[in-house]
Amino acid sequence: MEPLLADDVAVVTGGASGIGRAIARRFAAEGADVVIADIEESPREGGDPTHELIADETDANATFVECDVSNPGDLEAAVDAAEAFGGVTAMVNNAGIFHGEEFLEVEEGDFDRMVDVNVKGVYFGAQAAAKRMVDSDGGSIVNLSSIAGLQGSADFVTYCGTKGAVRLLTYAMAATLGSDGIRVNTIHPGLIETAMTTDDYAIIGTEAEDEFLGGIPAHRAGQPEEVADAAVYLASDLSAYVTGESLTVDGGMSN
Ligand code: NAI
Repeated sequence: MEPLLADDVAVVTGGASGIGRAIARRFAAEGADVVIADIEESPREGGDPTHELIADETDANATFVECDVSNPGDLEAAVDAAEAFGGVTAMVNNAGIFHGEEFLEVEEGDFDRMVDVNVKGVYFGAQAAAKRMVDSDGGSIVNLSSIAGLQGSADFVTYCGTKGAVRLLTYAMAATLGSDGIRVNTIHPGLIETAMTTDDYAIIGTEAEDEFLGGIPAHRAGQPEEVADAAVYLASDLSAYVTGESLTVDGGMSN
């Protein structure tokens, strides 16, 4: 079978760690050249930088660009870096931050930072890629939302708001860019085992884990690679007639 992304060049924001790292590796294994755009070069969970790992594992080109997605200029630079490989055809707006909150105590700076990374980063990441894609053969934009973008949860008010915004930005972008041959879709992961869920919001490996797993029909946390499989589908021609869609990868948790 032909590799699914043999003609593709992908930019993956937040690709140094966790889900983004798994997506970048999986895309490279399917033949794509990859630009990792992240504020950090080293994975939060430890190990070699993603672009070095890809160079060891595959024949794909991979490079790292220091990029804070809350800065549109950094996103333009990340998309520009993809020109060295022929130009971006797949943009994965994956970088995101999470923290639980006491709603009555949230301060403006924390709110602004989460909106800047989770919403503004997706908007301008998509815009930077689409500017290139409208002048070429189109492409696929994949935005990482969350099951928190499908339903409200106590003590996650800001996070839910940002992830809900990602979902509707995606639908509107799909409507806007469809005639340019650009598809735009979201992935909504449930509980996935990354530094986000072991450190920032420590569920996995804590006493709360069992209770949490009770609400997941699959009765386990997901792995980043399982989200990466969904991203391959949405970036590749397997989903050529799919746009403005939300793909949930949550072991049944949100049903
Ligand atoms: P993670 O915290 O393990 O990795 C996030 C990566 O994004 C890191 O490499 C980090 O350096 C980078 N990053 C953070 N802020 C950045 C910025 N301003 N600019 C560029 N890069 C930045 O997170 P994880 O778990 O891999 O999450 C990836 C995406 O999936 C996020 O958007 C998250 O909200 C979403 N998600 C994760 C879930 C989970 O259970 N882990 C569940 C649902 C959604």
